[in-house]
Amino acid sequence: MTQQTNKTLQALHWTGSSLKVLDQRQLPDTIVYDDYQDAAGVTEAIASMRVRGAPAIGIAAAYGVALSVMAHTAKDPGHWQEKVAADIAMLAKSRPTAVNLFWALAQIEALLAQHPENPVFEVVARAEKIHADDIAANFRMGELGADLLGGVKGVMTHCNAGALATGGYGTALGVIRSAVKRQPLNVYAGETRPWLQGARLTVWELAQDGIPSTLVADSAAAWLMKSGAIEWIIVGADRIAANGDTANKIGTYSLAVLAKRHGVKVMVVAPTTTLDWTIKDGSQIEIEQRNPSELLPVCYLGEGSLVSAWNPVFDVTPAELITAIVTERGIAYHPGEYGLRGLQDAV
Ligand code: MRU
Repeated sequence: MTQQTNKTLQALHWTGSSLKVLDQRQLPDTIVYDDYQDAAGVTEAIASMRVRGAPAIGIAAAYGVALSVMAHTAKDPGHWQEKVAADIAMLAKSRPTAVNLFWALAQIEALLAQHPENPVFEVVARAEKIHADDIAANFRMGELGADLLGGVKGVMTHCNAGALATGGYGTALGVIRSAVKRQPLNVYAGETRPWLQGARLTVWELAQDGIPSTLVADSAAAWLMKSGAIEWIIVGADRIAANGDTANKIGTYSLAVLAKRHGVKVMVVAPTTTLDWTIKDGSQIEIEQRNPSELLPVCYLGEGSLVSAWNPVFDVTPAELITAIVTERGIAYHPGEYGLRGLQDAV
């Protein structure tokens, strides 16, 4: 069981025998949970973005392996290992950029290696722990990030890095939640084209919690910064390289460039499960390209159409454009200058 974190609906709910996934494609108009009982279903839920956001993807995948282990140890006690390995490989192909997915799968793989007989209890417990630890990390980051916002009047966020994208409470939105408990704060959210995570999810999620926000078109960001209304951009992350380069929702890089021009600071909020120590810098991060149909009006979709679309859904913000990376283990200030000093060994 996971603790209830706020009034917002949770993205994931583990029943003990299935994973209920809030279908975020239908928000905010329709609230519907789909019930998944196998790893193939969970893979589909991630690939189709019913569940999205780096930490939530990792948690869902962990539960996906738990479902796989439960089913295959019961059906085929002699050969469950190969079947579970195939399910893990399938889950790993669901989306490429968020490192939390691969981190969670690696955690469970290591656990399976330690429990070759019947690991159901251990795997379920580990998936639940990954879920609970993520919520705890978000609360900690919320406080640490809010410490940086003393006296600040306005912030802007991008995409949805909230309860819907995590185990609960959120990363960027966790900081905003913690900050508004301490002080008044004007919160601006960019629409986040083309999938509209900002317009459909972020402002809705904040409203569920009684937090007012102002929606802006992505293209209004420069003018908003020029107006002096915001002092910080606060975003989440999908993968942070060892030098602090950060992959996040497409448009984050544009915001960071604009922020530099306008003297606005950039805060990246992410649990240490989003740090990828195996890659030196952001050039090694695979950027997911999604189907052009997510971008193109229907009239351009037919065969022989002269209009195509380029639809990268993440970009990489160089560390030098980031003011602070907030994790549950502490804050890396000016990562472009100092890297992620202290975070690897911090407890
Ligand atoms: O394509 P999405 O909606 O999965 O992208 C989500 C983001 O880019 C988030 O900012 C990131 O995963 C951090 S969520 C705490």
